Amino acid sequence: MADFITLAKINDIPDGKMKEFRLAGKVITVAGIDGEYLAFDGICTHEHCSLAGGFLDGFTLTCYCHGAQFDVTSGQVLGPPATEGLKTYETKVEGDELKIKL
Ligand code: FES
Repeated sequence: MADFITLAKINDIPDGKMKEFRLAGKVITVAGIDGEYLAFDGICTHEHCSLAGGFLDGFTLTCYCHGAQFDVTSGQVLGPPATEGLKTYETKVEGDELKIKL
C-alpha cells in the first residue's frame, strides 16, 4: 500500500486557487478550497491541456481549452467535451505540509 509523501507547503496553495505539481512522473493539480486540498490528475482527459490553467468555481473546474467541466471532489465529468473523468488522490495536512498518496 502506498504511503503519503510530501507534495508542498500548504501556504503554496492559496484558497480558491489551483497549482500544478510534478511528482513521480505524474502531473497533479491541487485545488485549495475552504481549507481542503483536493488533488487530481492535472491533465485534461479531452486533449491534454493543463488543468491548473483552468477556472475554479466552487468545486467545479472548467478547462480553459474547450470548456470541459469536472467535479474536483470526485474527478467526475460535469460537462463536455471530456468524457473521461480525472483520477483523484487522497491528501492530508501535517503541520504546514500537504501530503499525498499516489
Ligand atoms: S483539453 Fe480540456 S476541454 Fe479540451
